[in-house]
Amino acid sequence: MNPNGATDAIKSIDAINLESIGRDAENERRQTIAAAYRLLARLETPFEQMWKYTATLNTMAALQTLIDLGLWQGWKEDHVDSEPEKSLDDLLKCCRHPCDKELLRRLLRIMSAACLIEQVGPDRHRPTLTSLALGDEKDVVAHTAMVTGAQYTASAMNLPKFLAETQYQQPLDPKNTNFMDANADRLPLFAFLQTDPSAQAHFVCAMKGLSQRKRPWTELYDTKVLVDGHDATRPLLVDIGGGHGLDVTRMLERHCCTGDDGDPLLGDLVLQDLPDVVALAKEKVVSDRIKVMAHDFFQPQPLKGARAYLLRSVLHDWNDEKAHDILRMTAAAMERGYSKLLVCDTVLPATGASLDLASADIMMMHLHSARERPEDEWRRLLERAGLTVVKMWCDVSTTSTDTVIEAELV
Ligand SMILES: C[S@@+](CC[C@H](N)C(=O)[O-])C[C@H]1O[C@@H](n2cnc3c(N)ncnc32)[C@H](O)[C@@H]1O
Repeated sequence: MNPNGATDAIKSIDAINLESIGRDAENERRQTIAAAYRLLARLETPFEQMWKYTATLNTMAALQTLIDLGLWQGWKEDHVDSEPEKSLDDLLKCCRHPCDKELLRRLLRIMSAACLIEQVGPDRHRPTLTSLALGDEKDVVAHTAMVTGAQYTASAMNLPKFLAETQYQQPLDPKNTNFMDANADRLPLFAFLQTDPSAQAHFVCAMKGLSQRKRPWTELYDTKVLVDGHDATRPLLVDIGGGHGLDVTRMLERHCCTGDDGDPLLGDLVLQDLPDVVALAKEKVVSDRIKVMAHDFFQPQPLKGARAYLLRSVLHDWNDEKAHDILRMTAAAMERGYSKLLVCDTVLPATGASLDLASADIMMMHLHSARERPEDEWRRLLERAGLTVVKMWCDVSTTSTDTVIEAELV
């Protein structure tokens, strides 16, 4: 390309924004981001491709330090739209802990270079939507940053050592995970979260953020299938390991009520998870039209003959043996010819997995000794528990990461 061509291309790239794509055009937005990554891969030198990971790590280290300092929360509380700019001295006052001024200047420099804040002059900064979200403890962004900075990064960076120590065998043992190896108390992730209420709250909110980002399962799957022929004296949907409760709420919003008086209730909607997680959900997430119930999914399912049992992003946390145990407990509660199992999870494609999918697979490896599964493994796993796949409901667009696998008892 000649230099003028480059200038024109830069202008075209710079002109792309949410307005030009269309604010509601979610698929186009994601496809444009994927194209931008491909553009980088074409233009960056091999050295640049490697070196940029140092910037990611250093940004994360600075971001986490600013979380620990309480800068984001203080800034958000002090923010007024009419006067968005702050000086370095103002920002020092926003911190909850005393901090060396030059240290803060250096931490803010990388935040601005990473476009997390906007530098408008020497030692003068404006927040961005992201930095304000980081300061809002009700926002999933703040929680996602906490769980990424505190647990995920340390676990991921321990993986090369763990794999060398385990002779490069695929980690499949939930009693010896990389996450356990990376932490002095040697607890698996879910056991660790139960010992640390604030880490648990961050985890649950980060999961909610992930769920919000994905296409609702109630759009992928025709939920009318469940409602038609449903016996309202029995539970309509049991969301097993449902965490934040967003997925059961989606069913509520779609069919059962909108909060209007006289709206018929089609049967119970139930959220199940570990006791501390459902306590969190009860506190702030879920409508009181949803029943909340502590239940360990390795124990027999107490709600028999529900119309549907949902396992969303649950089975990918477990190896085949443990996933089989969860399925066995669920299948034993199902009624042949009536109950459905909906597994909402990633189905790995044979080729061309996106960075999101491949990254989730490595994350399952380092956190849980688990894995994302391709279609044939899902079928085998379900068949082993006496279930048969009725239909794989997936998004034909290339950007969706979840499939709803509808299964019934054989
Ligand atoms: C990856 S999260 C998925 C949460 C939610 N279904 C979603 O899609 O966002 C896995 C969930 O399994 C729950 N969990 C882990 N072990 C459990 C157990 N033994 N019994 C019940 N729930 C469990 C966790 O607390 C967590 O909420």
